[in-house]
Amino acid sequence: MSDVRAEWDERYREAHGGHHGSLWVSHPHAELRAIVTGLPPAGAAPRRALDIATGDGRNAIWLARHGWQTTAVDFSAQALAIAREHAEEAGVAPEFVCASILDWATDDRFDLVTVTYLHLGDEPIRALLQRIAGWLAPGGTVVMIGHDVDNVAAGGHGPADPAVLWTPALLRDAALGAGLVVERCESLLRDAAADPEKPDEEGASVDTLLVARRP
Ligand SMILES: C[S@@+](CC[C@H](N)C(=O)[O-])C[C@H]1O[C@@H](n2cnc3c(N)ncnc32)[C@H](O)[C@@H]1O
Repeated sequence: MSDVRAEWDERYREAHGGHHGSLWVSHPHAELRAIVTGLPPAGAAPRRALDIATGDGRNAIWLARHGWQTTAVDFSAQALAIAREHAEEAGVAPEFVCASILDWATDDRFDLVTVTYLHLGDEPIRALLQRIAGWLAPGGTVVMIGHDVDNVAAGGHGPADPAVLWTPALLRDAALGAGLVVERCESLLRDAAADPEKPDEEGASVDTLLVARRP
């Protein structure tokens, strides 16, 4: 097992045994929810979603509750154990897959791929966007939200190493390189005082957002 995976397992194990029971807020990401809600309505067949680095499953569970046939991948077995508990409580059953997204493979095609707060470095993110482009069905949408390189200076929580933080330039370039049509690519400033992501923090947070579509 890689050190990084073992560290994530340990973080989830500690959080689950602790007071809050969870590492993250349990509700889905507000911006993600707004974007997905605005997508064109489903046809007759259920739409398929892939949530990458699902953690304890907050976005995957919300997607499943809203009719998406959802697959959720994370390499932390501890995270997925919590995600399964939360899904059961919510009365939904996304397919949870324990694997590193760097070497997971699938022949399935998805109408939506979501990625929130997966920080891997520029080259792995470019490679991941290439793979995501291959997993999207024609017309499918990818939504990526992660900590922006300006997040640290703004006082936001999260990783401090600029090498793993995102910029709109990186995601735009990677999406275009993967043959996707960029619909939105920008920095998002969130005021922590009213921030549903971290209600107990002061200061601001800066995210990078990408919404792109397979033509
Ligand atoms: C900051 S958490 C975000 C969780 C979730 N997306 C959310 O927003 O609540 C990052 C997640 O990425 C997962 N992760 C990191 N590297 C990964 C990899 N190579 N493959 C799969 N999951 C990975 C970790 O286990 C962790 O659950």
